[in-house]
Amino acid sequence: MDWEAAKMMCSLQFWRMAVYWTLALVYSRLYLLLLPYLSNRFPSLFRPPPPPFSRRRFSPGHQCPVRRPICVVTGATSGLGKAAARALAAEGYHVLLASRSPQALNKAVWEIKKHDPNAYVEAFQLDISSMHSIMKFECNLKQWLQDANLHPSVQLLINNAGILAKSSRVTADGFDEMIETNYLGAFFLTNILLPLLKNSPVPSRIVNVTSFTHRCARENFHVFSSKKYCFAQIYEYSKFCTLLFSYELHRQLYAMDSASVVSVMAADPGFVETNIMRELPPSLRKLAFMVLGFLHLLQSPEIGVGSIIDAALASPEASGKYFYGAKGRTIKSSPVSYDAKLSKELWLCSYELLQECKSRIVNLSKLD
Ligand SMILES: NC(=O)c1ccc[n+]([C@@H]2O[C@H](COP(=O)([O-])OP(=O)(O)OC[C@H]3O[C@@H](n4cnc5c(N)ncnc54)[C@H](OP(=O)(O)O)[C@@H]3O)[C@@H](O)[C@H]2O)c1
Repeated sequence: MDWEAAKMMCSLQFWRMAVYWTLALVYSRLYLLLLPYLSNRFPSLFRPPPPPFSRRRFSPGHQCPVRRPICVVTGATSGLGKAAARALAAEGYHVLLASRSPQALNKAVWEIKKHDPNAYVEAFQLDISSMHSIMKFECNLKQWLQDANLHPSVQLLINNAGILAKSSRVTADGFDEMIETNYLGAFFLTNILLPLLKNSPVPSRIVNVTSFTHRCARENFHVFSSKKYCFAQIYEYSKFCTLLFSYELHRQLYAMDSASVVSVMAADPGFVETNIMRELPPSLRKLAFMVLGFLHLLQSPEIGVGSIIDAALASPEASGKYFYGAKGRTIKSSPVSYDAKLSKELWLCSYELLQECKSRIVNLSKLD
């Protein structure tokens, strides 16, 4: 074990993360396993689990202007994003892989095509932690739809890109990088693509990838008040915000108008062996995979992606649900994540930041 790993293992933050995150995972797993039994045994105390949602395949009518639904997957060059892109291409989607590295994008497209030569996949450069890049992505996407003579709409947006940053870094927009990548960027992109999603002649969908770690976050956030960069707490908080955002968007789009074309789901893949912990010392990463593997809590990306694909393909009535555990299953997220007032406050604050960033980019481009 190297010096960095040893230092980290001596910190309170490491043990807090190890214990809290494992407990959050165990809680979700027990919920899935025990609820059917408990609701049977004590029907007055426990409600039965909701019935699972089955996956539906896209089948356009004769007159439908969309022949192949368009799906945008952010962070599609690795782990869950790549697995989701591959699975959705196999489901008949025209998948747009959106990520920041052109080399990694070409490699991911090549790999998917090698696996399935008939897959419809395109690469788009997008840095979700940059408003400028998001606005450029929107322009490129609209241009591509026009050039390809496709209907000017998007049917599915998977907000998957995410990082677990070990140290504090500030983006060009002036935000903490982990917060902008995991939450704010997804909020900005969704709002910018919303007109294309609403323009869909068939039901469209937003899937936000969140995490069991949201259970460790509290509503009174003081994650930046400490001198140290509390990376685990900031990650939890970013995933908690993603969840509040999902429920608020669901309320605005779907709950208020069930005839709405856009539905919104949250998906939690559980613990998956991907590159998410790339900034942590390799020996600690190995140790985490070993311990969670031993506890049967570790999954491959192909299995972990199940809840994301369930959320993408479930019927629109599942809008506002939290998909976990694959097989179409949904569970309850943390009680505080259903706080509608808190979600609204976060929405208003994030929306203000969106407008500020947008106008700054527009003013800068006028100066160029
Ligand atoms: N793995 C788990 O156990 C787990 C559990 C719960 C939730 N999740 C969530 O699942 C999502 C996918 O993570 P993963 O586990 O598959 O990790 P991963 O293998 O590290 O993949 C993350 C993807 O996001 C991309 N990305 C990072 N920053 C970006 C940016 N600024 N702009 C555009 N793309 C960016 C990465 O691209 P680069 O290669 O260019 O960095 C990569 O393609 C994340 O939101 C994560 O929080 C993961």
